[in-house]
Amino acid sequence: MDKIIVEGGVPLNGKISIAGAKNACLTLMPAALLTDEPLTLTNAPRLSDISTMTELLESLGCEVASLQDGKVLVLGAETISNHTADYDIVRKMRASILVLGPMLARDGHAVVSLPGGCAIGARPVDIHLKGLEALGAVLDLRDGYIHAKAPNGLIGATYELPFASVGGTENLLMAATLAKGTTILKNVAREPEIVDLAECLRAMGADISGEGTDTLTIKGVAKLHGATHRVVTDRIELGTYMIAPVIAGGEVELIGGRRDLLEAFCTKLEAAGAIITETDAGLKVSRRAGRIQPVDIVTEVHPGFPTDLQAQMMALLSFADGTSVLEERIFENRFMHAPELQRMGAKIEVHGGVATVTGSETLKGARVMATDLRASVSLILAALAAEGETVVSRVYHLDRGYEHLVRKMTACGAKIRREKE
Ligand code: UD1
Repeated sequence: MDKIIVEGGVPLNGKISIAGAKNACLTLMPAALLTDEPLTLTNAPRLSDISTMTELLESLGCEVASLQDGKVLVLGAETISNHTADYDIVRKMRASILVLGPMLARDGHAVVSLPGGCAIGARPVDIHLKGLEALGAVLDLRDGYIHAKAPNGLIGATYELPFASVGGTENLLMAATLAKGTTILKNVAREPEIVDLAECLRAMGADISGEGTDTLTIKGVAKLHGATHRVVTDRIELGTYMIAPVIAGGEVELIGGRRDLLEAFCTKLEAAGAIITETDAGLKVSRRAGRIQPVDIVTEVHPGFPTDLQAQMMALLSFADGTSVLEERIFENRFMHAPELQRMGAKIEVHGGVATVTGSETLKGARVMATDLRASVSLILAALAAEGETVVSRVYHLDRGYEHLVRKMTACGAKIRREKE
């Protein structure tokens, strides 16, 4: 296992290229199961979660060619030779559940293990399952597996999601493209990754309207075909690196950055003290003179403040001149970074889904442990501005979502290195 060592107190200056979105790529890849023709994805991120999805798709008989050092993926599922997504792969990553809708829609049967993923709450998949039942699937939960059948194919229906689940929306959207008749999905998620999926499916021949709103209308087609699609920018990687020069000082240009992907986050970051300007290549971020200002945050579904940037924002607000209140409304157990930040001297009190952060002028480097993907990067951000050395262990969590993090930060002058434990 590797660790990352950060020497704090060095401002960041330079450019960072933002990769394609992990969360978009993880739903675009299973979309390849919907057709017997190849789907080419460009601007793919190089991450261990993408390797896990590759392994899962290959186990189902989908060929995955990784070109240009992994930036281009060509996925070909001429046939699905195995319809069982095994526990050993699925447990590594919750997004594995996204193979269920496509397999069921194309071949009328699928068996998928109940997923694992980050330890940030119960994270059930009931919405995925109820939605597929509304489309006519017959489901049976046995031995930790979902056994799904639709012998006569899926049938278009109207289904209102009880909560705007991102994965639930993606699974149902993919499934509905090949259902007989029209499907109307209400109260769907509106995240940019859903819009990206809809655009890709449309390029594959699907008839979809309403992406980016709370209702999706999908007219089923008999067959989808191959396509080439560019994966949308990773707004969470973008937001993470936007915080870096605000916490550590300096000025960083995020190449490929788009404010429209992160409006709610940008507004809060500006209130905390960021100066954000749009450039020809992306976004430039620096910090206003003086201390970081406290801000209150509530995580919400898009277009609200993203839960995937809550931990990073907590790291920033640990340096604020005053008290901030962070309310986590998407996941019930997503403050595991708080005790680690406390080890660095942060003053954080957690009561249920609410964290109260009283800022300090400085934090002190310490040995800390990554607990999940976004929690681990929050520790690195805090370490950039802390006094002395911070050692972050269990960094395999970071490899799930941040490609070449050490290289990208080093290029901006950060004193950060990776070593074997
Ligand atoms: C996706 C993202 C993840 C992000 C999350 C919320 C991917 C691969 N992951 O996860 O990074 O943090 O959106 O923006 O895209 N829920 C249910 N029943 C369900 C489905 C979800 O109760 O059937 C609950 C979950 O337990 C959770 C909340 O809804 O509390 C949000 O889940 P969801 O929007 O589905 O997130 P994911 O798709 O898992």
